[in-house]
Amino acid sequence: MSSDSVPHGSRAIYPGSFDPLTNGHLDVIERAAGVFGELIVAIVVNPQKRNPMFTLDDREKMLARCVAHLPNVRVSHFRGLLADYLKAQQADVIVKGLRVVSDFESEMSTALMNRSLSNVDTLFLMSDAKYSFVSSSLVKEVFFLGGDVAPFVPAPVLETMTLKRTALKGK
Ligand code: PNS
Repeated sequence: MSSDSVPHGSRAIYPGSFDPLTNGHLDVIERAAGVFGELIVAIVVNPQKRNPMFTLDDREKMLARCVAHLPNVRVSHFRGLLADYLKAQQADVIVKGLRVVSDFESEMSTALMNRSLSNVDTLFLMSDAKYSFVSSSLVKEVFFLGGDVAPFVPAPVLETMTLKRTALKGK
């Protein structure tokens, strides 16, 4: 097979809570967009996380602004099993980021379960080392205790977080 005939049309899904999106997530999205034909960033409406800080609508809008420069990336959401969503979207692959070894421990069983349910593999991208300590939950904690999170989130996220803090203070 010549390199011209190698298929490059795979549809990948990057699922997550994105409450909110961090620079670490965005780095994974940008790199995955360079590898796969199409990337769907799918916000999981997760009943186990009953108290997300941002509404689904807020998260979708923040994400859409942050990936606007990537033509093969679209933002969506789903409820229920990822395996069902993969089938509905005819996706070929799941993308996940790995920051530290402890991520791998939980992601390995999740990947095996998803493969068992859907026959779809999970491909992992190592987070850039400079984002290895960045998580949505730490970003929220630092921000609401008055710390500067500008180095850790894209500008549209910081803007939305600031609006949210102002709205909460007014209550
Ligand atoms: O950003 P998060 O919260 O770490 O992402 C975890 C997420 C949402 C990707 C994972 O919980 C998930 O895939 N949920 C969908 C429900 C599902 O399919 N659960 C079984 C996984 S084997």
